[in-house]
Amino acid sequence: MATILDGKAVSQKVKEEVREEVTALKAKGYSVGLAVIIVGDNPASRTYVNNKKKACEMAGIVSEEYALPESTTMEELLALIDELNHKESIHGILCQLPLPKHLDEKEVIAAISVSKDVDAFSAQNVGHIMIGDYAFLPCTPAGIMEILKAYDIHPEGKNCVVVGRSNIVGKPMAMLLLQQNGTVTVCHSKTVGLENYTRNADILVAAVGIPKFIKADMIKKGAVVIDVGMDRDENGKLCGDVDFEAAKEVAGYITPVPGGVGPMTIATLLKNTVTAAKQVYGLI
Ligand code: GUN
Repeated sequence: MATILDGKAVSQKVKEEVREEVTALKAKGYSVGLAVIIVGDNPASRTYVNNKKKACEMAGIVSEEYALPESTTMEELLALIDELNHKESIHGILCQLPLPKHLDEKEVIAAISVSKDVDAFSAQNVGHIMIGDYAFLPCTPAGIMEILKAYDIHPEGKNCVVVGRSNIVGKPMAMLLLQQNGTVTVCHSKTVGLENYTRNADILVAAVGIPKFIKADMIKKGAVVIDVGMDRDENGKLCGDVDFEAAKEVAGYITPVPGGVGPMTIATLLKNTVTAAKQVYGLI
């Protein structure tokens, strides 16, 4: 039976550290502010945004929500981002994805000031990550690295397999594992013989968005299994991309859903927002 990687516990520690840092900044007269933009009424996005706002509140970060209707135009959204780029009390801007189809995500991301891009989604920030010289790391991959560190799991020399190649998770995840000297393979929906790769993985990251896609027989005995999925099973119950019940009998370590990767994403967002504020105040 695998050791359960308790992302919730690790995130609580990180959030507590952030809260202490924000308190110390406040005592010196420095505030920290995050703007969260949500367009339309995607229920999953609403849940994520509510959780992010709640976490900000608990950490002492001022969060401003901008909830825009589905009918919002590019011009309106870009005008809001421009206003927030210039707003002194706001140090981080997060536009929850996905956006409604008629809005151009690339253009929206590009409009956010690089110094306020706490998701690290912009081309500049992605480039910084590629060369290993960055202020912000993308929240989910960085959160995963933090979980590995907390359990003394080191990617160096390990076969690391990332299933999924999204800009938000798969690609930056591969980059961070590579930076820590893992030997990294990125698999995706067109990979032929996926199980031949996953069965060879010492560290397996599943980020495909398909419920219980990774079965126990695709996992190497004793492997570290990281589940980024936030899916619904056939009964509508929250589950991950990994068939957890069977996989935990094969894996050495495994993240649960919920309570694994999800809470770490938010903890990293808080850290990034504090970093953004400290840069503005000339404290780093
Ligand atoms: N949608 C899913 N994950 C994320 C995230 O980390 N940031 C934003 N902005 N949108 C998301």
